[in-house]
Amino acid sequence: MKNILVVGAGGQIGSELVPFLRNTYGVNNVVAADIDESKCKNLSDGPFEKLDATDGKTFAEIVKKHKIDAIYNMVALLSATGEKNPELAWKINMGALENSLNIAKENKCAVFTPSSIGAFGPTTPMDNTPQDTIMQPNTIYGVCKVSGELLSNYYYERFGVDTRSVRFPGIISNVTLPGGGTTDYAVEIYYEAIKQQKYTSNLDKGTFLDMMYMPDAIKACADLMEADPAKLKHRNSFNITAMSFDPEIIGDEIRKHIPEFKLSYDVDPVKQAIANSWPNSMDDSCAREEWGWNPKYNLAEMTIDMLEKIQEKHDKGLI
Ligand code: SER
Repeated sequence: MKNILVVGAGGQIGSELVPFLRNTYGVNNVVAADIDESKCKNLSDGPFEKLDATDGKTFAEIVKKHKIDAIYNMVALLSATGEKNPELAWKINMGALENSLNIAKENKCAVFTPSSIGAFGPTTPMDNTPQDTIMQPNTIYGVCKVSGELLSNYYYERFGVDTRSVRFPGIISNVTLPGGGTTDYAVEIYYEAIKQQKYTSNLDKGTFLDMMYMPDAIKACADLMEADPAKLKHRNSFNITAMSFDPEIIGDEIRKHIPEFKLSYDVDPVKQAIANSWPNSMDDSCAREEWGWNPKYNLAEMTIDMLEKIQEKHDKGLI
């Protein structure tokens, strides 16, 4: 039986990853940890530990106490928030990773840490971005992600730590809101479509970015960690994507269900510059070949599910 620790359990991905893992490995075998207990109320069915992931001592104590075999390090300040406070972004993003790797090395744990489309930069080929290519990001978030990929590969090669990761695109979900990412518009647009039948996008029309629905993102984490290591030619990190669109395309898809939906633009220059430096669409064939990556949701299917779930929340007065 595996004992798993999810650090950053109250975040956008962690809050849905924990229930999935508890369902797969058993409620008591998946420990949720977060600096903010109030964000983890929906995870109270199983073990919880309050943890600042940059505090290596407490982190190590929790790993020993629960005899952890695998750490999912889901801690990160996202790209736009990172630009507001680069020192803090480096401290948190790299601090959590450094502790995860060192504690994994000491306690023989596997480590999953998400990388991102943010690991790419303006000199990266923008269309069908290859798995192995130029990575010169110009955001602190991206600098952390590339550093994290290299450090994770180093720990695998030098110390044999079983590190694995994916480069996530924008993740779209209806449970926990993302905080301060460049791709957040693609989540907000669904909430505003239900609440007000209109949305003002802070990214311009023609801004294509890779995206993915949360159920596919969660499955990617779990599938990669279960993959046969003999088949992995890459480790940190795999390109994965499910769809690529711009605000006009997602607006048109929403209009198929809410014909009166109106989309306008008020471009945020910081977010736009970040989005312009990221790929339009990634080539994820290595993930497909090496561990069977195969997303279930396209834009049309995701839109139906998002609108249905958010409508339910709205009807209950939750949003
Ligand atoms: N969703 C993230 C962001 O926009 C990218 O990984 O910052």
